[in-house]
Amino acid sequence: MNLSQVSNKNNLNIRTCGINPNLWYVVATSAEIKNQPVAVTLWQEEIVIYRDQEGKIHSLEDRCPHRQVKLSAGKIVENTLECAYHGWCFNEEGKCSFVPYLEEKQKLPPCKIRSYPVQELDGFIWLFLGDGDSNLIKPMGLPEWDHLNYIASVAELNCQGHFSYLIENIMDMYHGHLHDNYQAWATAKLENVEANNHRVDAYYSAQSYYKIDKIWSISQLFFPALRRLHPVPLTVSYIYPHWASSLGNDFKIYCLFCPINETQTKAYLIHFTSLNAFWRLHKLPVKFRRFVKDSLFNSAKKLLEGLIIQDVEMIEQEQKAFLENKKLRNFELNRTVVAVQKLIRQQFLLGK
Ligand code: FES
Ligand SMILES: [Fe+2]
Repeated sequence: MNLSQVSNKNNLNIRTCGINPNLWYVVATSAEIKNQPVAVTLWQEEIVIYRDQEGKIHSLEDRCPHRQVKLSAGKIVENTLECAYHGWCFNEEGKCSFVPYLEEKQKLPPCKIRSYPVQELDGFIWLFLGDGDSNLIKPMGLPEWDHLNYIASVAELNCQGHFSYLIENIMDMYHGHLHDNYQAWATAKLENVEANNHRVDAYYSAQSYYKIDKIWSISQLFFPALRRLHPVPLTVSYIYPHWASSLGNDFKIYCLFCPINETQTKAYLIHFTSLNAFWRLHKLPVKFRRFVKDSLFNSAKKLLEGLIIQDVEMIEQEQKAFLENKKLRNFELNRTVVAVQKLIRQQFLLGK
């Protein structure tokens, strides 16, 4: 069996394959959840996220059991979610806790909607969709998020495409061809792939345009003329259902997935520029280092957004071609992509 045939084995079509729901997915950034409920969708399930008066995050099915309207159109009242229509309130467990026009002999209706395990960690809202035990599994997290030696940039990605197209895009570094004008990396060469039923690690060698060894090197993110190619290892990992990568010592990038349905995917790309090379900086007071980190927040956002536009265009064309003719066969030469497809199928079956 050659590589291109492997991707077609099993009756499970990779372009319609479901997710393993018994893992932590990212549905929003912390900053998006303020004092109003927010509607999100994770693999066809409509969910409302809200922050109570103590700042704690909760998530419920986005449906008022009284008349099935969206609870996300309501508001937060004393740590409960109040429906916009008749003002019934629901607590964090999804139980009806108040009806404004309850008559003297009437009891609260015994209705209850689903609540989901949810937590706020490293700048994002992580949600566990399945019925499995969420305490047994930890969300991936971003160790660099609060670390003073890393400057973060965040960009949201929305595409009309199955999540498999996006993860294949970011695991196949030969697609650097598409981004030549952004000078992200050059001449990637796959050196090795390791895979098991939880992750795929692909090791490439590449040329980076950036070297962060002087404090002013950060300006390379804005001025292409300052960039010089130099060889670096480029590692990309599909740590199902998310993605992590490192380019030499200077950059780490994560992609946190929120698959919406079979033809729609949301994700967050988080880019970290390392300040590890600046030992003098590390001797300065924490307050000052925090100031440097915070002032440079989102310095690579424009770069990320430029890359995203190009990637989304390709992903949406792939999805469209698939929907128009499901029998068209791809030719795959990068064994990383084959390993990624195998993992997607394995995880789907694991979650059933
Ligand atoms: S529909 Fe929600 S309170 Fe009536
Ligand atoms: Fe890309």
